[in-house]
Amino acid sequence: MELKLIVKNLYKYYNEKPLFENCSYTFDRSGVYVLMGPNGSGKSTFLRMCAFLENPDRGEINYFEGNKVLPKDINLMRRITLLLPEVGVFNTTVFKNVAYGLKIRGFKNNKIKEKVEEALQFVGLSHKKEQNALTLSTGETKRMGIARALVLEPEVLFLDEPTASVDWKNTEIIENIIIQLKQRLNSIIVIATHDKESARRAGDFLLYIKDGRIDTKHPEKQIL
Ligand SMILES: Nc1ncnc2c1ncn2[C@@H]1O[C@H](COP(=O)(O)OP(=O)(O)OP(=O)(O)O)[C@@H](O)[C@H]1O
Ligand SMILES: [Mg+2]
Repeated sequence: MELKLIVKNLYKYYNEKPLFENCSYTFDRSGVYVLMGPNGSGKSTFLRMCAFLENPDRGEINYFEGNKVLPKDINLMRRITLLLPEVGVFNTTVFKNVAYGLKIRGFKNNKIKEKVEEALQFVGLSHKKEQNALTLSTGETKRMGIARALVLEPEVLFLDEPTASVDWKNTEIIENIIIQLKQRLNSIIVIATHDKESARRAGDFLLYIKDGRIDTKHPEKQIL
């Protein structure tokens, strides 16, 4: 059954500075939600809270399956993936970097190989699989991060600045990957970005952090 994410009456402060005040939003349809807002408005903090890496000061962040609230346990965590702006890279091959999550989940080697090779092909990095991941370019590293998330087949995928410091060509590649990812995973994908063009091209729902809340606007109805 499909997951739903409901954020309700969320408050978050840092040193008395309000980031979120009575913020509510429901992510209940698969598709790409683009979260925009100025530097420091709380986009990354919002994604971290939704991925349970940080607690809100008040309010609720719940995942539902139908009408049932899911317990915040390892089973739920495994259905959610957050890709950070700086992709953590292990000092080993691209293949092993992408395989890591599957290995710790106990997948068999032949299954790992199959999934990793398919994901690398999907992000256009098949020819780099034996290269040390530390030697990849920024754009390639971002794509490797997406492959790493993809093999886990997350039902909710958070991407924090997937195209920051990426040139136009790689931005286009990443956008296309996101559009295909949406069709393939049929998941809730939430992207924090400053890239208005990407938002317009890849986004189904445009969200903007304003006065500590999430404002909703549909990209087609809005001039960015
Ligand atoms: N652990 C923390 N302790 C103190 N302040 C924090 C902490 N985490 C975030 N902040 C502050 O909260 C604010 C929001 O930060 P956040 O990274 O969520 O913004 P953002 O919208 O992602 O910005 P950017 O567009 O620059 O990535 C910033 O002022 C930041 O310094
Ligand atoms: Mg950020």
